[in-house]
Amino acid sequence: MEMIDLRSDTVTLPSPQMREAIYHAELGDDVFGDDPTVNRFERSAAERMGKEAALLVVSGTMGNLVSILTHCGRGAEVILGDRCHTHLYEAGGISALGGIHPRTVPNQPDGTLRLEDIEAAIRPDNVHFPRTRLVCLENTHNRCDGAALTAEYTARVVDLAHRRGFAVHLDGARIFNAAVALGVDVRELARGVDSLSFCLSKGLAAPVGSVVCGSKSFIAEARRTRKMLGGGMRQAGVLAAAGIVALETMIDRIREDHENAARLAEGIARIGGLSIDLARVQTNIVYFDVTAQRLKAEELVQRLGARGVRILSTGPARLRAVTHYGITAGDIDQTISVLTEVMNA
Ligand SMILES: Cc1ncc(COP(=O)(O)O)c(C=O)c1O
Repeated sequence: MEMIDLRSDTVTLPSPQMREAIYHAELGDDVFGDDPTVNRFERSAAERMGKEAALLVVSGTMGNLVSILTHCGRGAEVILGDRCHTHLYEAGGISALGGIHPRTVPNQPDGTLRLEDIEAAIRPDNVHFPRTRLVCLENTHNRCDGAALTAEYTARVVDLAHRRGFAVHLDGARIFNAAVALGVDVRELARGVDSLSFCLSKGLAAPVGSVVCGSKSFIAEARRTRKMLGGGMRQAGVLAAAGIVALETMIDRIREDHENAARLAEGIARIGGLSIDLARVQTNIVYFDVTAQRLKAEELVQRLGARGVRILSTGPARLRAVTHYGITAGDIDQTISVLTEVMNA
């Protein structure tokens, strides 16, 4: 049975053009700075984000960890959202490996942190307290329905942080989804932040990799942090080659993923026993709930799986489906018909 896999946009397989580029990539030892494909890719990624320099890392988790460790010394404090990926799903790495103290403030439903909450979380200079060194934002916001943070909002957080003497890191795992949804150049969304990481292996469909972007001096330090974490890679041009194709060919087509997500959401809204807030579906992530008392989210996942559709349960009654490269409008229609069949059974 052919599966329609909507568990995540990380399940994408590389495009034929990526496989071709990987095969022909010119390689060298990147720890010596000798891999021409990595060097070309990093220059192009930095330029696209409007930053001075970039660093290829293994994953989004490593991108955030490298960035946060580079900004903060042991005992420093980082302000972040209580629903952000770094706090919930990165194995506590910033504390375990960096001795960095997380100070959470509530994520609003639109993925933002209220400026008043950030302000109130800043530590006064007092021996009792850790020192606030950083605030982290996430765009798009995974657990907040894939919401896109606007450039105006980011600028306000940057302004507050810089006025109070600390830095901003942006987890931009899906920043191109935000740029496409908002109809702005991605540079607008990256403007002012001291560092950002974005992923090649999600909406951009490359097999492996994320990128940290920032100033030349920040990236030089981040390169050292990456090495410390065991992330110095040798002929990493095999990854960067796919990254170059991803940046050249995969950004504009994200629009299709958003259209498919909206199509799926509208279908779900028509099915009895399911509930969805259509206004919240802005990008490629669709969260919805089972309201039929007899059915748990996990049971629904099992039944869909048996009929060729894979999605994730993220709570007792909550589910998530993510659209991506390789999923067509026809797959979405098939998903809606399977969902209808299972809910009516
Ligand atoms: C918002 C966000 N940040 C970071 C990550 C981590 O990326 P990776 O799985 O490549 O470590 C994810 C993964 O889904 C994510 O959704």
